[in-house]
Amino acid sequence: MAKMWAGRFQSEEKKEVNDFNSSISFDSRMYKEDITGSIAHATMLGAKGIISKEDSKLIVETLGEILSDIEEGKLEFDMEAEDIHMFVEAELTKRIGDVGKRLHTSRSRNDQVALDIRLYLRNVAGVTANKIKDLLKVLVKLAENNKKTIMPGYTHLQRAQPITLANHLLAYAFMLERDLGRFNDAVKRMNYSPLGSCALAGTTYDIDREMVAKQLQFDGIVRNSLDGVSDRDFCVELASASSILMMHLSRLSEEIIMWCSWEFKFIELDDAYSTGSSIMPQKKNPDICELIRGKTGRVYGDLITLLTMLKGLPLAYNKDMQEDKEAIFDALDTLNMCLDIINPMLDTMKVNSENMYKAAQRGFINATDLADYLVKKGMAFRSAYKISGSIVYYCISNNTVLEELSIDKYKEFSDLFDNDLYEYINLENCTFKRTSKGASSIDSVNEEISYLKKVIEG
Ligand code: ARG
Repeated sequence: MAKMWAGRFQSEEKKEVNDFNSSISFDSRMYKEDITGSIAHATMLGAKGIISKEDSKLIVETLGEILSDIEEGKLEFDMEAEDIHMFVEAELTKRIGDVGKRLHTSRSRNDQVALDIRLYLRNVAGVTANKIKDLLKVLVKLAENNKKTIMPGYTHLQRAQPITLANHLLAYAFMLERDLGRFNDAVKRMNYSPLGSCALAGTTYDIDREMVAKQLQFDGIVRNSLDGVSDRDFCVELASASSILMMHLSRLSEEIIMWCSWEFKFIELDDAYSTGSSIMPQKKNPDICELIRGKTGRVYGDLITLLTMLKGLPLAYNKDMQEDKEAIFDALDTLNMCLDIINPMLDTMKVNSENMYKAAQRGFINATDLADYLVKKGMAFRSAYKISGSIVYYCISNNTVLEELSIDKYKEFSDLFDNDLYEYINLENCTFKRTSKGASSIDSVNEEISYLKKVIEG
């Protein structure tokens, strides 16, 4: 196929060069944005008298037809085309001849592609934000159902202090709340129209950039023409927000994987969200979680691709920038796929609260509370800590636990110990008397939940 830029060239482009250069295999997904952008541009050209009103009208109508033909499957992308922009323009010219050739007046593919990606990503980021909210809903629901589910809280994966499953899961909910903020922020900064930057230097035509920006629901225009075509920081920002979110999903997945193991048996995934082994009949594997954990690296890779692609580029447009799309599309496709599957997986998993409780019972998870008991009776914390440590050591050496040690024995360590001690270090009290904000008490958890519900509604 003869190129639109063929005028300057004496011989035809080699097929391999076209294949190497072409981006239609991955940028055709922006067909709608490309056409919508062209409609706004052609409308402005007509309004400003840069092309005639009739030509503008015909172009706009025909672009509309091309859009519906693509959506109805009547028009297929030509894989020989260099990119989606060239494809649409060629199709337009095929349909309305010379009038179609007027569309690209005072425009370049450089500002066109910068516009298309922004429009496309703005939409996908909105869809992603809603999925984050859906996941927040599931986590809040699980928390509401597990306000009383006691489990061991860990540090260094060693039993540390008792918490509730509600409090544990709400930690992830707050991470997701920040992720949501990052997506919304990225969209805010991205939502400026680069169209009218043209190739890099703007134009001598009397265009109206604000009019185009308004028609496409941007908050304004990118103020500098070189910046408009040169930067892809909005892709980096979204890939970064995606990477952080994937990191959160990966940590949650890692915990689910552990909790499914026979060693923990804290939860059981629904059969529909688990997989079997081809050889070991007993296996029920948490493949979904493992894949989310695995795909996290892939999204980080996309972020690094984008950062590296940009770091040495002189202004303005360079073809390296065509590499932005596969990376950011892959990051968002992967992320959205993970969000789609983790949501129902969590929603259907069964919580084994008995096993969680059992795991919290033995293991000296109340040793801090033992020290706090002495502190409340007047002892300095560091001294109380030391005595409690010695008691734990004594229990381990004598194969017993804090709850079962006699009061006489306790008194050998400190005469501040009394019978009210047993009540004080009982698991329920250790968990639910943690009334400080953000802790596991029912009131604290309720407060967290009502805050998150507002985020979900907002
Ligand atoms: N397919 C190109 C891209 O994705 C479109 C812009 C091409 N501009 C150019 N001057 N070659 O970046």
